Amino acid sequence: MTKTSKSVGVLDLYHNKSKIKWVVLAVSVIISVGSIYYTNVLVKQLEQREQKQIELFANALEYTSNQTLDNNLYFITDQILFQNNSIPTILVDEAGNISQYRNIDLDSSLSKQEIQNKLVLELDDMKNTYEPIKIELEDDGQVYGVQYVYYKNSFLLRQLTYYPYVQLTVIALFGFVAYLIFNYSKAAEQNRVWVGLAKETAHQLGTPISSLMAWIEYFKDQVQVQDKTLIAELDKDVKKLQVITERFSNIGSEPVLKEENIEELINGIIDYLRPRISTKVTFSVHALTPNIIAMVNAPLFEWVVENLCKNAVDAMGGTGKITVYILKASEGRVFVDVADSGKGIPKTKIKQVFNPGFTTKKRGWGLGLTLAKRIIQSYHKGKIFVKSSEENKGTTFRIVLHA
Ligand SMILES: Nc1ncnc2c1ncn2[C@@H]1O[C@H](COP(=O)(O)OP(=O)(O)OP(=O)(O)O)[C@@H](O)[C@H]1O
Ligand SMILES: [Mg+2]
Repeated sequence: MTKTSKSVGVLDLYHNKSKIKWVVLAVSVIISVGSIYYTNVLVKQLEQREQKQIELFANALEYTSNQTLDNNLYFITDQILFQNNSIPTILVDEAGNISQYRNIDLDSSLSKQEIQNKLVLELDDMKNTYEPIKIELEDDGQVYGVQYVYYKNSFLLRQLTYYPYVQLTVIALFGFVAYLIFNYSKAAEQNRVWVGLAKETAHQLGTPISSLMAWIEYFKDQVQVQDKTLIAELDKDVKKLQVITERFSNIGSEPVLKEENIEELINGIIDYLRPRISTKVTFSVHALTPNIIAMVNAPLFEWVVENLCKNAVDAMGGTGKITVYILKASEGRVFVDVADSGKGIPKTKIKQVFNPGFTTKKRGWGLGLTLAKRIIQSYHKGKIFVKSSEENKGTTFRIVLHA
């Protein structure tokens, strides 16, 4: 498999992931709106049915109050009146006194006064819901009085109105918790992969490196080898391999943080980098106060700064300036700012630079900053972010450490 095909694969995954997010969001919105709309239709239909029922109830009431009924008719109207066992109603006379009520839940322990108060409250509620139905009391075709039937929606209907909202809230909460658990277990799995791979790499590199070291020692004593500079170069490369192994072994285990002089560490890294890159790139380190100490794991922290410096060099096409500022901030924090005079990061890309697989380079893996973030956040409990970036002017990354 070629390198490019692999890095494109990683990138694709990233684009798809954000697409999937939008699709899931859109589907959830459609489902929510759909279910609210559908229950509203049901509510409307039920409401109409209750309206009809209450009209029938009022008619029956009017009929029974105005006619002397024979037994059969009496039976029918009675059936109608008792049919209404769900819609709360209050019958009020002309003077506004409550004369009858139905389907209003009243505690049997309430006193007469309390019942009265509660009914008045209910009545107010009903007055705000629907216009009352007027009943005319007649005697021999002469209207001698009126009564009003006040009513509101049944308990069932009221519940049905709120139901979709309650249901959607519960589902949303459940979905959110499930998402958190899923994310957590995914992060835990990624952790295991990182740690396992790093440990295994360190472990496998160990044997050939110690063998190489033994060989170097052997050649040092051999008179046949005349060019000793060759051995010195070999020695340097093996030392570098050792540093790399140490980094992998540190990332594969719980790394130990020690008080380190940050300026010294950074000077060390730059001394290592300087002969390896173009002489037209100048480095400078400014510690705003001397002896700034922070808690770091030296091999891992060096790795981070090395990655930042390498990115800075890549961003400037051969010529430019890299400046590292070290300063003590409030609350026991130490800032390390790595500023370059490179091409900068477009505003739209700043958020993505720490994503695994994000790269704009032909030969990049897009892992340098992912690793840096992991080292600073997980192992140092610190922060790393793009402090500022301006196109064609340069970029500054900031690392926040604990003193
Ligand atoms: N100092 C910088 N100036 C401009 N762009 C930067 C800078 N640092 C990072 N970037 C952008 O962020 C991207 C990701 O950087 P990262 O170090 O994670 O990966 P990479 O350098 O592309 O590959 P590698 O895995 O080899 O480091 C880079 O490809 C580059 O586009
Ligand atoms: Mg990089």
